[in-house]
Amino acid sequence: MKKLLIVSSVVALFASSMFAADGATIYKKCIACHGAKAEKVFNNKVPALTSLDAAAIVASLQDYKAGKANKFGMGAMMKPIATPLSEDDAKAVAGYIQTLK
Ligand code: HEC
Repeated sequence: MKKLLIVSSVVALFASSMFAADGATIYKKCIACHGAKAEKVFNNKVPALTSLDAAAIVASLQDYKAGKANKFGMGAMMKPIATPLSEDDAKAVAGYIQTLK
């Protein structure tokens, strides 16, 4: 019984750290333009990503992926970045950005 408890807590710890690492790992690809703390205003136009909630970030990423978004006239820069991201990736990175606020 004790052994089972240890095993399951190790598994839970591993799973939660894996989930946390996921968004942070994906976000590494965003730092150059959006800043290490998602605080950067890109090209004096694109607001800091910390000004958006998670749902807005996921929706934007899906729109860039679909080639439907071009809010600041630079949608072509986001399309190749958003394209390889799955919906789960988008949610993970959006969640990670919330932790930077
Ligand atoms: C090469 C620079 C670059 C990289 C790297 C980059 N972005 Fe962007 N991002 C932009 C630009 C430029 C825009 C504005 C596009 C437009 O005109 O709509 C933008 C817009 C966005 C927006 C919408 C902002 C708003 O206010 O509506 C989100 C969300 C976003 N990026 C998330 C990300 C995430 C998440 C990553 C990493 C996976 C990432 N970006 C990587 C340049 C970049």
